[in-house]
Amino acid sequence: MNVRENISIQPYHTLGTKVITRYFTELTNEEDLLPFVSALSKDHKPMLIMGVGSNILFTKDFPGTVIRMNNKGIIVINETPDHVTIRVAAGEVWDDVVQFCVDQGWGGIENLSLIPGKMGAAPIQNIGAYGVELRDVLCDVEAVHLERLEKRTFVREECQFGYRESIFKNILRGQYLILNVTLRLSRNPELKLDYGSIRNELSALGINSPTIKDVREVVSRIRRRKLPDPVELGNAGSFFKNPVIRVDQFKKLKQDYPEIVSYPDPNGVKLAAAWLIETCNWKGKRKGDAGVHPAHPLVLVNYGKATGREILDLASLIRQSVISRFGILLEPEVNIL
Ligand code: EPU
Repeated sequence: MNVRENISIQPYHTLGTKVITRYFTELTNEEDLLPFVSALSKDHKPMLIMGVGSNILFTKDFPGTVIRMNNKGIIVINETPDHVTIRVAAGEVWDDVVQFCVDQGWGGIENLSLIPGKMGAAPIQNIGAYGVELRDVLCDVEAVHLERLEKRTFVREECQFGYRESIFKNILRGQYLILNVTLRLSRNPELKLDYGSIRNELSALGINSPTIKDVREVVSRIRRRKLPDPVELGNAGSFFKNPVIRVDQFKKLKQDYPEIVSYPDPNGVKLAAAWLIETCNWKGKRKGDAGVHPAHPLVLVNYGKATGREILDLASLIRQSVISRFGILLEPEVNIL
């Protein structure tokens, strides 16, 4: 693996702020990894594993080695009349995996269409959208420990998935590099159409018996309408998580704000952070080149020259408004470095 020094990674992360990494390399061949990592000196650490950098906010230059994942391959490892199990290399672009599966008629991930990122990053934050999460189809994750250089397979239960959470984001944060992910898809999928406007969109298109292809099409339309394309406008998707609060706290809020947007949640009540932020009048606001997207206030954007610090400062102001008005602390969904 060829290591370059003092490289700008501005083009390699979707918020597109200026960042220099001390060392940079790309992993295209899994076999190169172990000799490469064992040859690295202390000076090369810490290591940051990156797909397309669609969930990171850099607030300073990176002092160690960025490894950009580019290993490829989707292999069928098991087939039954009802299911197909595939093993996907971490460097595959997530939406290409969705497209491939939809083209084959394998269902389960069509609601996760158009989520930016690569396969390897998907389990870390248990990507989710439109009523589906990656954990619904994930069998296991094959990863390498970056110090001990041992390979380990984490079955689904060991991944400790939660809402935008996994063991890789918590107790094992930064310790493992994900190489491959195994997914189990269905040949007779049960479509998930209950989230938001999916059903309405389908009927507006005159589709009465939708296929997974139709669902992919409709989800893609909704996303394109609401969420900015990072190629056109720097962003990292939802900047904050939707907060989950206690039921008694929710009841009090509901008295003051009967129109508050909420969903049932096993741990209380989940609120739409987008609604909280919009109600604090942040939608469409801008501080220099750091902004709150006009169509979706949960997405912070870089209009061109914003620095990571400026985006972080904007996020802090939003958090302050939400806490002083509602008493709710918004937690970032992106990784802040
Ligand atoms: N809303 C507003 N104002 C707005 C936009 C939305 O008040 O300008 C309210 C609406 O009431 C709407 C609700 O917020 O019904 C929820 O909005 P949306 O359906 O767009 O979903 P979200 O909760 O804001 C989550 C994920 C998205 C995912 C969508 C669809 C999180 C943090 N975000 O957003 O994921 O695409 O649901 O499932 O859970 C991401 O993680 O980067 C991401 C984009």
